[in-house]
Amino acid sequence: MGILEWATSPWGQRVPIHIAWFLIWVSLIAGLVFLVVHAIYVRYFAKAKKFAGTIPPELNDRLPERIARHSLTARLFHWVMAAAMFVLLFTAFLPKVGVQFDWVTYHWIAGIVLTASVIFHIVHASFFLDFWSIWPDKVDLQDSWKRVQRFFGRAASLPRRSGKYPLDNKLYHGVIILCGFAVILTGIFMMFRVRTGIFPRNPYLFGDMTWGLMYVLHGLAGVGLIALVVVHVYFAIRPEKLPITYSMIFGTMKRDFYLHEHDPERWVVSPNPPSRESRGLADAD
Ligand code: HEM
Repeated sequence: MGILEWATSPWGQRVPIHIAWFLIWVSLIAGLVFLVVHAIYVRYFAKAKKFAGTIPPELNDRLPERIARHSLTARLFHWVMAAAMFVLLFTAFLPKVGVQFDWVTYHWIAGIVLTASVIFHIVHASFFLDFWSIWPDKVDLQDSWKRVQRFFGRAASLPRRSGKYPLDNKLYHGVIILCGFAVILTGIFMMFRVRTGIFPRNPYLFGDMTWGLMYVLHGLAGVGLIALVVVHVYFAIRPEKLPITYSMIFGTMKRDFYLHEHDPERWVVSPNPPSRESRGLADAD
């Protein structure tokens, strides 16, 4: 049993036509196994988090009680993309596991929504957000090496607190980019195979081998997204991550959480505006 399904083209060439659908279960089970192993590790083996350095106590007074983490625009993008992602996953894979319905139209429409939201996100993140906050930096690499050493019982100094996004979030974002771009680019071409009314259907745009490989890449990245989404939802509902999930709904997180988990030098937050008293204005009017 291979991981691809093959067919013979009218010219007698053996071509891949798509992935073997048992990979849906492989990905789902891999995601579930990851979360069970992680939950057991955190519950029974993980030590309490410790970080290098102490947070200056005056930050407590200088910073607002609630720290702004995601703007309304960023949150809207996240939830539109999430809705499109779920529609894509369910419309793609339910028919493959026996739930038959007319899925293709819902699927490509959700694909267009995902594509548009991702283009919007790229522009927004490049010009209006802190673009570099989501890419691993030197401190992340140094700290992850310290963590590995400490995990194996070797002497190493404590890691620093993270910037706005910890390394695991950054790596996750990187993998999502790869799978996301793969399904989007292949999906746009695959729209030429179906009747969309947007552009004329043209199944002869590529040869059988190229189409086959495109369907394979679309399928592989698609099943990969099953495990990635399972893991993402699992972290979103873990008790210690709820403040982060809350911030993706309401936009802010508590100052205590920020000071405990994040390094104010790596994720700089605007302080409270100075009070009237501290500006000497109390008696001025
Ligand atoms: C979570 C993301 C996605 C997943 C999991 C996914 C999965 C799939 C799967 C498994 C198929 C069946 C392919 C086959 O029979 O080999 C498919 C077909 C298709 N996908 Fe996606 N896809 C995703 C995103 C997209 C996007 C972003 C687009 C468009 C921009 C798109 C457009 C299409 C089209 C047009 C087809 C139908 C092709 C045909 O029937 O000939 N998909 N998708």
